[in-house]
Amino acid sequence: MRVTFKPLGTAADAKANETILDAARRADAPLGNSCGSVGVCARCRVQVLSGTENLRPPTTIEIRVASQRGFASDERLACQAVVIGDVEVTTGYW
Ligand code: FES
Repeated sequence: MRVTFKPLGTAADAKANETILDAARRADAPLGNSCGSVGVCARCRVQVLSGTENLRPPTTIEIRVASQRGFASDERLACQAVVIGDVEVTTGYW
């Protein structure tokens, strides 16, 4: 379950039940977050470049935040998106 951060060129393997944010920390990919991963700040917003099917479906709180903030269909909250296979993600600030 490889999580690749583009265009940084860093990557990390996610362990069982880990999120994109967990993998980002291990890969030293600087990903915004300020709510302690409870899913309300949306600072961990990422765009999924590939492997959408390898993320668990959005949580109830993620669905609500995504709606409020106008997420595109390929955007997820990294702190809520549990990795179940290979994915590639990016942000607007890397
Ligand atoms: S860290 Fe706050 S929503 Fe993800």
